[in-house]
Amino acid sequence: MIQLFKSDEWRIIEEGFNRQNNRFTESIFSLGNGHMGLRGFFEEGYSGDSLPGTYMAGIYYPDKTRVGWWKNGYPEFFAKVLNATNWIGVKIRINGEPLDLAKNQIRDFYRELDLKQGRLLRSFVLMGPGGQETRFEFTRFLSMAREQVAVINLRIKPLNHEAEISLTPYLDGGVVNQDANYDEVFWEVKAKEISPAAAWLTMETKKTGFWLTTAFASQLVGEEVVSKRPEETSVTEKFLGYHYSLKVAAGQEVNLEKIVVACTSRDFEAEELAAVTLKKLTEAQQQGGPRLFAEHQQAMAKLWESSDIIISGDVEAQQALRYNIFQLNQTYSGRDPRLNIGPKGFTGEKYGGSTYWDTEAFCFPFYLYTKPEVAKNLLYYRYLHLERAKENAAKLGLKGALYPMVTMDGQECHNEWEITFEEIHRNGAIAYAIYNYTNYTGDTSYLKEYGIEVLVELSRFWESRVSYNPRKGKYMILGVTGPNEYENNVNNNWYTNLMAAWTLEYTLASIKSITTDDPQRYQELQSKLKFTEKELAKWQDINQRIYYPYVSELEVFEQQDLFMDKELQPVTELAAEDLPLNKHWSWDRILRSCFIKQADVLQGIYFFPERFSPKEVTRNFDFYEPMTVHESSLSPSIYSIVASRIGYHEKAYELYLRTARLDLDNYNDDTDDGIHLTSMAGTWAAIVQGFAGVLVREETLHLDPYLPPNWKELCFQFVFRGRHLKVAINHDEVAIEQLSGAALELVVWNKKRQVSTASKAHFTRGN
Ligand code: BGC
Repeated sequence: MIQLFKSDEWRIIEEGFNRQNNRFTESIFSLGNGHMGLRGFFEEGYSGDSLPGTYMAGIYYPDKTRVGWWKNGYPEFFAKVLNATNWIGVKIRINGEPLDLAKNQIRDFYRELDLKQGRLLRSFVLMGPGGQETRFEFTRFLSMAREQVAVINLRIKPLNHEAEISLTPYLDGGVVNQDANYDEVFWEVKAKEISPAAAWLTMETKKTGFWLTTAFASQLVGEEVVSKRPEETSVTEKFLGYHYSLKVAAGQEVNLEKIVVACTSRDFEAEELAAVTLKKLTEAQQQGGPRLFAEHQQAMAKLWESSDIIISGDVEAQQALRYNIFQLNQTYSGRDPRLNIGPKGFTGEKYGGSTYWDTEAFCFPFYLYTKPEVAKNLLYYRYLHLERAKENAAKLGLKGALYPMVTMDGQECHNEWEITFEEIHRNGAIAYAIYNYTNYTGDTSYLKEYGIEVLVELSRFWESRVSYNPRKGKYMILGVTGPNEYENNVNNNWYTNLMAAWTLEYTLASIKSITTDDPQRYQELQSKLKFTEKELAKWQDINQRIYYPYVSELEVFEQQDLFMDKELQPVTELAAEDLPLNKHWSWDRILRSCFIKQADVLQGIYFFPERFSPKEVTRNFDFYEPMTVHESSLSPSIYSIVASRIGYHEKAYELYLRTARLDLDNYNDDTDDGIHLTSMAGTWAAIVQGFAGVLVREETLHLDPYLPPNWKELCFQFVFRGRHLKVAINHDEVAIEQLSGAALELVVWNKKRQVSTASKAHFTRGN
């Protein structure tokens, strides 16, 4: 854990350059706009430890896998998000010496990520060998108004000397992935051109054949500039740049602006890509840097209006929450149903930028409550992959559909047998998201048109994956890995069995409701999917006779068969130097131990609050939480929500802080690889579903808020069944303003209440 940043409600501020933490700060200062993104690496380059990364949404490469012992059913490749053309670059020399913060002496280093405006700023004073001082200020933003556009601005001012400044703004397609399995270069040059007006470079990915054209124009802006035109150009195979050489007097400032446009063949015809990109560049240039920024600011303001959460009285919690919401908005806009949410977003190579169960299990509520149409797109993404999921199940000799653990295009790309073949609970989260959407929005259209097909195939999968144990007269699910990846190849993981049985139940109920509500659709489905009475009866039987491991003397669900044979011990008894276990213990020791990586039994309890009594939830929480090491970033938010529901308020707050500041404070010592985007959505849920207690029970909206003592007020907005609601919660009162939609009956603090259209209602605790 490190604490580098100053507390501030809207900004992440670093004062003084932390060379030893460069990869970590590069992750934290990442920027994106849904279409593209980049880590916070430096414009001028850096010879020290760094992970430069520029990424384009949906552009990947199937890197041939590396495994020691090949197993049938393994995928041939792992789809990797690609480090793409570097467009941020500006080589800088002062009096002939290259600027390189790994080597130079500097003072007054300051870096600020302005969350409100979506802009990164960095400034410092370079101290030359003879006492020459030169001030630098860099800013960058990726437009939220024009997703292909980014602008970089650089100001240089010699403070006490006349400086010879050489600047080379450039594009560089000669980039690599640090995680490439065979040190392959993934891109080839397709075409390039440089003219006094603009430079562009088209690269093509090997194998996948994606084209990416990046273009830029640069100019020296401002009053005091000697020459505004570059003097020469520099072109090598994958590199295009302009040179500016300037003599700048003390106190005079040089201001270089670089406008960049990046388009891909995912959105435009490959043959037209260069022309489209140049057209967009001309339009952006006509608009000019300041107006592009103004447009971007407006788009940012709109985003904040719908997704901000205000916590009064706790700056650290506020800063962390806004940082998380910021990164979620930077990564996934929901405009393109072919895209999804990679666990690292645009902030690193790890996890390949692919889709995990994280989307449905952890990210979904954020979109569902703030932009339900985006949540629907996320569901549709899985529908588009249904055929591939069926192929995936067939490959393993199973019926129905098994969604991949990790995917870019619907094909599995993970190859650790204990995860690829065994972490099948992911199918459960995909079914749950369909239910979650339908239950929360009341909109059954997705379920009827698409979701039901997914559910039927998921049910077929479970039917073929269970085994019947005649001795016990029960159905079992053997050889699985639950959400707790610190156990592999276990039998009857309680959570997996619950999700399987519940999916069968929900599918049957959904078929039944379509039969009565829309007989024609039922007929269509019947003839397309060809389900039989016998098949449905079998699902019913499995649902009723599935086996759930249980510890009767403690009245808790048993995480899996034989869990109780372990030596049980709380995490508090471990020595501090053992943690995190995944960095200090052998894998074998972890597997044998009782320690739990992330919510497992509790994940199931979180999904179905109505199925378990408060006493049951409390008993399971008390039993499992002390053994949980939370070494997945996805863990603390789920425990925090459940803790809020059972009135463990202090615990809920402690876990909230852990999830909220996980990256800013580098809790698990692994933010260097990139931030934990999917867990950031969990932080949001810990506030809305946890502290505010928002829940839909039997078609009715419930709020059951409790604020940590140091919070004065909590304000946020959400959408519920066509109504836009603005909520302000303090310790004794909930104020709900209904901005749009019909009057609403809801339950606040366990009492029925009403809100009417375009009005504000106040409800006090106890009244
Ligand atoms: C977690 C998984 C998760 C993956 C990607 C792992 O550490 O255990 O549940 O899907 O990270 O976030």
